[in-house]
Formats: sequence, C-alpha cells, structure tokens
Amino acid sequence: MKYYFAPLEGITGYTYRNVHHALFPGIDTYYAPFIQPKQTRILETKEKKDIDPQNNSGIQLMPQIMANSADNFLWAAQELKARGYDTVNLNLGCPRATIVTRHKGSGMLADLDALASFLDDIYEGTANGGPAISIKTRIGKDDPDSAGNLMELYNAYPLAELIIHPRTQKDMYQGEPRWDVLEECLKISRHAICLNGNIFSPTAHLSLMTRFPNEKYPNIKAVMLGRGLVANPALHREITQSTRVTKAELKRYHDSLFTAWDALNYGTSTLLHRTCELWFYLGCMFSDAEKFVRKIRKAKNVPTYLAAVEQLFEHCAADGYFRL
Ligand SMILES: Cc1cc2nc3c(=O)[nH]c(=O)nc-3n(C[C@H](O)[C@H](O)[C@H](O)COP(=O)(O)O)c2cc1C
Repeated sequence: MKYYFAPLEGITGYTYRNVHHALFPGIDTYYAPFIQPKQTRILETKEKKDIDPQNNSGIQLMPQIMANSADNFLWAAQELKARGYDTVNLNLGCPRATIVTRHKGSGMLADLDALASFLDDIYEGTANGGPAISIKTRIGKDDPDSAGNLMELYNAYPLAELIIHPRTQKDMYQGEPRWDVLEECLKISRHAICLNGNIFSPTAHLSLMTRFPNEKYPNIKAVMLGRGLVANPALHREITQSTRVTKAELKRYHDSLFTAWDALNYGTSTLLHRTCELWFYLGCMFSDAEKFVRKIRKAKNVPTYLAAVEQLFEHCAADGYFRL
C-alpha cells in the first residue's frame, strides 16, 4: 500500500511539505494544492513557487490542475511536463461554491456528457508525449446514484490512477464518507484506485482495510491521508509501524512550521492566520485543550501567540486524533 498526503489548499504548500518531509519521512507522494490555469497563460507567482522542483527537493510531488477548459488544462500540463512532471492530477473533487458555480472541480460532475467531451480532449491532447493524467474525484455532484455511470465513464480513458473521495459535492467534508457507494465503484472501475476520506487514526485505517481487503480488491493501490495527517503528522508512521507520535514531536512540528512560515516574511497577520488554520487540526491531538486553543487562535501578536502555545504544551496530554 502506498500513502499519499492529500492536498489542502492554504496549508500544505511547499513550505509545509518541506517541514513535514524532513521531520516525518515516509510519505510516498505529496499532492500539491490545485493550480488554476487562466486564459492569460500565466501561472501566478504562488503557483509557480509551489510546483518549482527546487522548492520540492527530495519530495515526490504530484501537481494538480483545476480547469474546465481543455485548452487551459493542456497548457498547464505542458508547463508541468517542462518542469519534469510525468504525471499530473485533475481535480474533479473541490466542493467549494465559488468553484462549483464556475463548473470546475466537483461542479464538472453535474454533466457527464460535458465531462466526457473534456476528457476526450485532454487525453487526446496528451496522448503523444504529454504527461499522464490521474483523476481525484467525488462520487457525484448531488446524486450518489450516478457514481456507477461516472466509473463507467472513467473506464473509457487511460487514467494513471483514480483517487476516490466517496462523498458528493453536497456532502462537502461532513459526515461519514459513503463507503457503500465506494464498494459499488470498486466493482466497476478498472483503474488503480486510491481511497480517501476520514482516515484520521490507525483504527479508522484498519477498519477500512478490513472492509476492503487487498485480496478482494487488488486494484486498491494507495490510501490518501488529509486532515488526519495535518493534525497528526506521524499518522502514516502510526499506521505502518505502530509508533505513536510524541508530544515532543508535535512541538517540533509546530515550531518548525512556525519558523518556516515566519521566514517567508509575509507579516504577522498572515503568519497568525496560517497558524490559526494549523491549530484547527493540531488542537484535536490534545485533550482538554479547548480554552488553550481558543487563546492561541485569538492571539493578535507573536509573543502572545507563542506564550499560549507554550501553555498548551505544558498542560495538555497529546492523546487524541483529528475529529469532525
Ligand atoms: C482546507 C482544505 C483544502 C483542500 N484543498 C484541496 C485541493 O487543493 N485539492 C484537492 O484535490 N483537494 C483538496 N481538499 C480535499 C482533501 O485533499 C481531501 O480530499 C479531503 O480533506 C478528504 O480527506 P480527509 O478526510 O483525509 O481529510 C481540501 C480539503 C480541505 C479541508
């Protein structure tokens, strides 16, 4: 089984990935948050930096493209190929309203004919020397019953891999993923599959592997960990080696990220906004930590912030996992 780090736009950019990789090696592939190619044919500075191989040294990186125009997709795919990426990932999963209303991300799952025409164009456009294309998908826009048709559709193309997050766009990121629908998808898909969704602990991983054993589902090749791994940066190690993360490791993880983000010199407010997002996940690792996390997330300057972090590490046990 391979273990992938899911892309989390706003968190798992290259600075984050470098810290994680240095402290908790062992992830097979890090997926980069999406880039959105535009008609201008210019990648934003932030996007360029994020996928620059020099900023991802020693890391196996999979860039991701979000586009609903085949021309824009193909242009970005060539840009990525020129930077040495032999495979790129297509985002058909993002549920955000601003994305979906523009018929991008999981918005593209609403119209399977239009999706087929888009896939025709991008697979044809990359057939001769373009990068291979994998897909990260949800199981439908509104209706999980269309998942079978979607899988049939994907079967018509040479996907490098299919990552399935078994929720509809409407489900956003809440509740239990629809594992029963995933089971139907696995029966239909001929592709190499990666499972994604709510794997927040070794127990959750084990129960998934018990439900979908490799002997019965040999095309499951990988598992993608997202929020659970941001909360517990050693989750993949806990799963594969049963070695629990320590409080000292979590402290080092926090301190290294803080230092790396601070070194970007984007100013205090951006820095504290980033750490605030981190604590949404990391805070779950500690018991009785609510009042400390509140103080951390309310801090308006760095000394107050760091003092609140120290207090949390001093008073709270690191015995949790990410939870919704
Ligand atoms: C804040 C946030 C940002 C995300 N950004 C992306 C993204 O850029 N590309 C993508 O394919 N998925 C993105 N996702 C979805 C995750 O990659 C993942 O599929 C989702 O969190 C479910 O996995 P998990 O339950 O293990 O977290 C994002 C999710 C969150 C919560």
